[in-house]
Amino acid sequence: MTKSAPFDRVGMERVCGFVNGKGGVLKTTLTANVGGLLAASGWRVLLIDMDPQGNLGLDLGYRHGPNDDDGKNLAQSLMFESPLVPLKGVRENLDVVPGGEQLDQAAAGLVAMGSKNGDQAKLALAKAISKLATDYDAIFIDCPPGNEPLQVAALGAAAFVIVPTKTDKGGREGLLGVAKRLDTVLDVNPDLDLLGVVVTATTSSATNVQRVAREAIAEAFGTHDVLFNGTVRYAEATAQAAREKGVLVHELEQQVKDGPKWYEVLNGKAEGVANQPRSAGNVAEDLHQITQELVSRLLKAEERNAS
Ligand SMILES: Nc1ncnc2c1ncn2[C@@H]1O[C@H](COP(=O)(O)OP(=O)(O)OP(=O)(O)O)[C@@H](O)[C@H]1O
Ligand SMILES: [Mg+2]
Repeated sequence: MTKSAPFDRVGMERVCGFVNGKGGVLKTTLTANVGGLLAASGWRVLLIDMDPQGNLGLDLGYRHGPNDDDGKNLAQSLMFESPLVPLKGVRENLDVVPGGEQLDQAAAGLVAMGSKNGDQAKLALAKAISKLATDYDAIFIDCPPGNEPLQVAALGAAAFVIVPTKTDKGGREGLLGVAKRLDTVLDVNPDLDLLGVVVTATTSSATNVQRVAREAIAEAFGTHDVLFNGTVRYAEATAQAAREKGVLVHELEQQVKDGPKWYEVLNGKAEGVANQPRSAGNVAEDLHQITQELVSRLLKAEERNAS
């Protein structure tokens, strides 16, 4: 059998997948917030939710709204090569292809497709993205924690992966799982690269735990370079409020700043507002730092690839 020509990835140099087979490590939080911060800074950003849970829509506030198709467009695009039609202007400069339950069907479709033609299934998302990639400065894919066919399709499309991981014992396992998945797609996506590992905290008082986890990761990779310097601190109140309200953390921070001050509430000059956590500013700062680092890592990789 003759080998097919390599897939043309022009314009797809900044497709990044947020990947970890482990659940709850902040894949969605980072996709939404880093994407949102980049969009706010003027980049044209597309987010693609490959998760049947559709949680990206919670963080951005469109989930179960009139424009949420529960992943139908994305599913059809994966199965039948119909064009991706993103939701436009979810924020300024930010478009989104929603995920949701419809993707379960697409996953089954990809398995069937893969049994006939493995490459076609691995490249299903890559093909869909390639048609609109030049409209954007960056494209982020939020990957599901399980669901191998969807994860593989996401990795088949990505130029870079970012692996969020927690400081708990399962972190290493998660990283090994990612390495295995990367292996699966290297035949169709040989230049797929690791942009870095983002360590996210499991508790609020975990400086030592953080240090140990970071050392273990650096040792596993044989270098500290893989580690993002920035981390996301543990702040449940902020995370909950952001997701409940469907706002990004920097937007929540702004709401807190614009909201009534405690002394205004106390002296009756203003009414208290529920769910205005004070940690929002700190978490927003963490996410800013990670965004800056992601940009500098992307630019460095581009320089390396150009030389
Ligand atoms: N800084 C934080 N501190 C504590 N909890 C957080 C923080 N940021 C987000 N969370 C919460 O942690 C949970 C998991 O986050 P998220 O959904 O981003 O992870 P995920 O890796 O995408 O999960 P899944 O594997 O289910 O897709 C969510 O309930 C989220 O609100
Ligand atoms: Mg998620």
